[in-house]
Amino acid sequence: MKIILDKIKNPIKKEINEFEKQFTNITKSNVSLIDQITHYIIHRKGKLIRPIFVFLIAKMLGNIQKKTYHTACLIELIHTATLVHDDVIDNSSLRRGSFSINAIWKNKIAVLIGDYLLSKSLLLATNNNYYDLLKIICQTIKDMSEGELLQMEESDKLNITEKTYNQIIYHKTASLIAASCECGARSVNVDEKTALKMRKFGLFVGIAFQIKDDLFDYEEKNNNFTGKPIGIDLREKKITLPLIYTIRKASKEDQKWILNSIKNYDEKKRDKIIDSVKKYGGLEYATQKMIKFRNNALKILELYPESPIKKALKIMVNFIVERNQ
Ligand code: IPE
Ligand code: IPE
Ligand code: MG
Ligand code: MG
Repeated sequence: MKIILDKIKNPIKKEINEFEKQFTNITKSNVSLIDQITHYIIHRKGKLIRPIFVFLIAKMLGNIQKKTYHTACLIELIHTATLVHDDVIDNSSLRRGSFSINAIWKNKIAVLIGDYLLSKSLLLATNNNYYDLLKIICQTIKDMSEGELLQMEESDKLNITEKTYNQIIYHKTASLIAASCECGARSVNVDEKTALKMRKFGLFVGIAFQIKDDLFDYEEKNNNFTGKPIGIDLREKKITLPLIYTIRKASKEDQKWILNSIKNYDEKKRDKIIDSVKKYGGLEYATQKMIKFRNNALKILELYPESPIKKALKIMVNFIVERNQ
């Protein structure tokens, strides 16, 4: 997996190194507790999917500028903040293969660290007068909160439709990946039409990305390389695409059993729920949908001339649906 990511990063190696330096500097604080926690976060690196999109798209469409680095930092700050908050919301004690912030420092501190990172992101935009980016970023932060809240509302009801699921994943995940692609493009001063094309590209990628993330939850425990707990969606009554399809297709009897099992969930029911999802083809259905979105993203790339950067972008899009972390 690391080999593919290294291959993707190869044409933007210098930029990613510089980005990592800037990102570390931005998160520094005079408050030692903040410093201690951001240090902990930075030493548990994520895949950097969003900054990679920022740099690849900027480089495909123009010359990377100071604003491109700032854009990558802005976006990764928002991403990091939302992960810290998300682990509080999901009661999750594992992130990137280590204890989550809430597991070590408890919820109160995790909430404030998330706020701190979000405010750092907005400050970076206002201090540099990036009002074009600020508008997109604020909209995205709003989208992400709405996505998480809609998901919570739906998890109480259990009768979620595919349409609502699409709405949730668009808001909570695709919106930020779309913003990465759009802002990456805008950082090199592209025309309006190109910026919006890149936004659309990011939306398709982002939806495929979250479907893949939801599929991870149905994998065997010993096959888990994500650094996150498995089975947590079911525990939190989060009904995602494989299960939505299964509930729709299941016999009345199975449907009743599945819904009851989620309502009164315990670890022992997990294997049987997964068996039903497999029996009714829920995993294949979600995979097909994911591939459809991947193909739509690839189609947009076809509009641009072949180049090493475009090739890296294509590998990245395929990585999103093939990854195991
Ligand atoms: C995880 O995102 C959150 C989702 C939107 C599913 P990533 O998988 O990009 O997280 P890191 O940064 O690599 O840990
Ligand atoms: C996606 O939600 C994370 C955010 C949009 C903040 P999930 O709860 O599905 O993501 P993971 O699986 O914890 O990374
Ligand atoms: Mg989560
Ligand atoms: Mg969540």
